[in-house]
Amino acid sequence: MATRTQTRRSSRSTGSSSGGSAEKSSSESRSNNRSNQDRSAFSWGENAGPLLGAALAGVAIGVAANFGRKALMQGMEAATGDWDEILAAEHDMALGIFDKMLATDQTQTFKRKMLLIKLTHALDKHAHQEEMVVYPALREDNEAVSADQLEGEHGYIKTFIYELNEMGPDASNWLEKVRQFRDLVSRHAHMEEEEVFPSFKQSMSEEQNARITSLVNRDGFWMA
Ligand SMILES: [Fe+2]
Ligand SMILES: [Fe+2]
Repeated sequence: MATRTQTRRSSRSTGSSSGGSAEKSSSESRSNNRSNQDRSAFSWGENAGPLLGAALAGVAIGVAANFGRKALMQGMEAATGDWDEILAAEHDMALGIFDKMLATDQTQTFKRKMLLIKLTHALDKHAHQEEMVVYPALREDNEAVSADQLEGEHGYIKTFIYELNEMGPDASNWLEKVRQFRDLVSRHAHMEEEEVFPSFKQSMSEEQNARITSLVNRDGFWMA
């Protein structure tokens, strides 16, 4: 026995007259078209689920890879030792990049550009760790004069980066500019390593030393 729904469906498909059926069929078709258009314009569509899932998985893999890279880089630095040893190792690394830059000639524009990018990233991360952790801790320890002088020099380090980017890697005075830049970084690093950091470290408790090391590592992780 046919249910009421089945009866309605049956009568709609067969129709009592051909005109009525055509009208209904056309009306249904318009309605379906509109519904499809609505779906395509305002919804993700049937394939969106898997596509969205794949995109999110890609983002997750990218985030995990970046997290792994940061953990590896800062983990290697953390193994270097206390905060002052980590920062001294970063000085050596930056000076090593300068030496590679000074070994280039005017035709090696691509290599010069890549080395400048690498140096900029290294100095940026290094300055961030000092400006966000070590210099504020120095000011707290009544060493504001040294902290302000060192932070002021960071400004001139950024100025050198700006000038090198502006002049371009094939400029005739590129090597001279890099030499002056290296001298500034070397003097700055020497003041930190030989004067300011040792006396600051001597005045610290073991807990404060561990705390500053942990904060430098945390800051370095996010900047890596
Ligand atoms: Fe510094
Ligand atoms: Fe430094």
